[in-house]
Amino acid sequence: MNTPSDLALPPLTLHEICEEDALDVLEFESSNSTFFEKWVPARGPEHFEEESLKQVIRDLMADPDRFYLMRSEAGELVGRINLRKLGSEPLDTAELGYRVGEKHLGKGYAKAAVVAVADLVRAQGDLTELEAFAADNNPASSNVLRACGFRWDKDGTKTVHLNGNPLTLHRFTLTL
Ligand SMILES: CC(C)(COP(=O)(O)OP(=O)(O)OC[C@H]1O[C@@H](n2cnc3c(N)ncnc32)[C@H](O)[C@@H]1OP(=O)(O)O)[C@@H](O)C(=O)NCCC(=O)NCCS
Repeated sequence: MNTPSDLALPPLTLHEICEEDALDVLEFESSNSTFFEKWVPARGPEHFEEESLKQVIRDLMADPDRFYLMRSEAGELVGRINLRKLGSEPLDTAELGYRVGEKHLGKGYAKAAVVAVADLVRAQGDLTELEAFAADNNPASSNVLRACGFRWDKDGTKTVHLNGNPLTLHRFTLTL
């Protein structure tokens, strides 16, 4: 199934991260770190100091994967969305990951970003499928994926550890 076109979504701009974004990213990651660490692995200390963060950003820019910032209509950094596993087997699949700042939750930004990235990769034509993993205790994330046309792959469940506890991740896929 392709991405639905009837979702009511907020205006959103996506752009690839670059060094000029360092201060915005620093504030975004610092002010949301406690929230994000409940759901995804903690960032290393290099993400919380301007000069080391600039090096992190340069490394991301040189990476074959793609790292986008989500900005509101007013230009505020509201979230991040990534495409990983680009250039690795299977070559026609990439993995989507995303995070939205706590004060911007529930406004549709994650859905808008997933739809925008799916449209972008569909237009580029290199990929036939996107995959994403949502933890079984994270209904917001699986809701985002389902709303954007992803389907649960019942054979794709895996267990990881987060903060010392086992966490079940469900695989979702979108056919482009
Ligand atoms: C998951 C996350 C990206 C969602 O961002 P968001 O911008 O709030 O998402 P949206 O507003 O586009 O959509 C969220 C949907 O989940 C629903 N939702 C939110 N919290 C929920 C909950 N506790 N239970 C059930 N549904 C929930 C919302 O109602 C909405 O669905 P709806 O529009 O059908 O009502 C955000 O919570 C986040 O960054 N979490 C921390 C990082 C993370 O978990 N990343 C994903 C890793 S798999």
